[in-house]
Amino acid sequence: MAELLSGKILSEQLTLKQKEKVAELKEKGIVPGLAVVFVGEDPASQIYVRNKGIACETIGIYSRTIRLDADCTQEKLTETIEDLNKDKQIHGILVQLPLPKHLDEQKTLATILPQKDVDGFHLINAGKLFTNQKGIVPCTPKGILFMLKDAGIDLAGKEAVIIGRSNIVGKPAAMLLLNENCTVTICHSKTKDLKEHTKRADILVAAIGKAKFVTADMVKPGSVVIDVGINRVDGKVVGDVDFEAVEKIASYITPVPGGVGKMTISMLMENTLEAACAQAL
Ligand code: GUN
Repeated sequence: MAELLSGKILSEQLTLKQKEKVAELKEKGIVPGLAVVFVGEDPASQIYVRNKGIACETIGIYSRTIRLDADCTQEKLTETIEDLNKDKQIHGILVQLPLPKHLDEQKTLATILPQKDVDGFHLINAGKLFTNQKGIVPCTPKGILFMLKDAGIDLAGKEAVIIGRSNIVGKPAAMLLLNENCTVTICHSKTKDLKEHTKRADILVAAIGKAKFVTADMVKPGSVVIDVGINRVDGKVVGDVDFEAVEKIASYITPVPGGVGKMTISMLMENTLEAACAQAL
């Protein structure tokens, strides 16, 4: 039976440390601040944005949510970000994705000052990750690496297989694991013989967005299985991995809920604190 990698427990431990860090910064006159820009009314995004606000409140970060109408112009969105770039109370800026279709995601992300880009989606931060330089790392991949390291899992030389090639998870996770000296394969919807790849994985990252997509026959016995999926099925949240079957053969597995999702928020708080410290210098 696999050991659980609990994002819930780990994020609770991080929350305590982050509270202390915020108190320390406040003594120096620094109040870390995070702005979340939310365009439109996507229901899943509503929940994420609310959770980010709650996390900030819990650890003492100043948070501001800027809501813009679904039909907001690119100019208005750009202007909003430029104001936040100049705002001394704000150390981190996050634009909730996806944006409504008429807005240009790349142009929007490029407007955020790289040092305030707590999502790590700006080309400068993506490029730093690509070239193994210190920058702001996207929250979900950073959370995955944190969990692996916390469990003492050796990464050098391991076969890491990632299913999913998104800019938010798949690609940055691949880069992080490559920087940790894993041998990395990125699989996606056009991959032939997916199972042939996943069966080789010592570390398998599932970031597909399909409920219970990864079945036991796709998993190497003794491997580490990281489930990034958040899917709603009959009112229940399930991951991209068939947990009940896969936990019987993996050595470690992340649950959903209580796994990677919790770490994503913790890492957003971490990135905001790091950004506040860097900007206070
Ligand atoms: N939408 C889904 N995941 C994310 C994320 O990590 N950051 C942002 N900004 N939007 C998202």
